[in-house]
Amino acid sequence: MMAKTATIEPKFTLANNEIRDEDLPAFRDLEFADINQLALDHPGANDEDYRARRDHIAGLSKNFRETGVITDVEYTDEEQKVWQIVATKLEELQAERASQFYLDAKEKLGITTERIPQLSEMNKRLKALSNWRLAPIEGLVETRGFLSWLSYRTMLCTQYIRHTSRPEYTPEPDIVHEAIGHIPNFTNRDFADFSQFIGHGARIATDEQLEELGRLYWFTVEYGLIEEHGETKAFGAGLLSSFGELEHAFTDNVERRPFDLAQVVKTDYSYSDMQPILYVIPSYEFLKETTRKYIESFSGK
Ligand SMILES: [Fe+2]
Repeated sequence: MMAKTATIEPKFTLANNEIRDEDLPAFRDLEFADINQLALDHPGANDEDYRARRDHIAGLSKNFRETGVITDVEYTDEEQKVWQIVATKLEELQAERASQFYLDAKEKLGITTERIPQLSEMNKRLKALSNWRLAPIEGLVETRGFLSWLSYRTMLCTQYIRHTSRPEYTPEPDIVHEAIGHIPNFTNRDFADFSQFIGHGARIATDEQLEELGRLYWFTVEYGLIEEHGETKAFGAGLLSSFGELEHAFTDNVERRPFDLAQVVKTDYSYSDMQPILYVIPSYEFLKETTRKYIESFSGK
């Protein structure tokens, strides 16, 4: 069983969202999954060129951990093509299904269907808008480590892109999932604060509480729906970056329930199937305040 962190710096308070770069722990201490262990069901698993390219981009991310400087990726024409195909199709679906806030945020960050956005440029804009940060990472990070970085108003993001043979699918996070799914939401201060609270929670949670946080993250950050001007819209990254999930979320096969935190943290989910249950939040502010109270209930706050 993982030991609980005894003290937390910076201290968890509502007012403390002014994290400075100097407050950040060293990125080089981050642990991550081995980049060479590309899962066998990954469409690029048997493509040597793809693996080499993915390793190269992962290497740039690794470099960040030593230098603290985000290196822009010179994406190839083939990679840009994958982006254009996915981003264009998603934009069509999102016009009807995504929250207006999200659509505006995407524009503010300069995320278009034309080209793959660089983490460096989005990072700069996010810092100005909500004091949020992006940090390149070369692979998957274990749950507590990944979530804990949110307490520093920092999201770890991959830079490589999915395999060209299946533009609609990736078994792992990639730049499409990060830039089209996650990043626009951080332009909202309430969402950014909520994410920071999850991060604080992860740092002090028992293993059981960490599992609950994982469910909260899943049903909001990844698969959340929001009530907006009397309509239900998508804001979760797993919905906004997947053709199949975004369409499925609004069918009769899904039970869309009003958000109830106590229920959400006890509800199991599956990675591999389409989601049968989704939760609808009334607003980011509500989500933030409800989460704040919940995290404050963890011992050791
Ligand atoms: Fe994600």
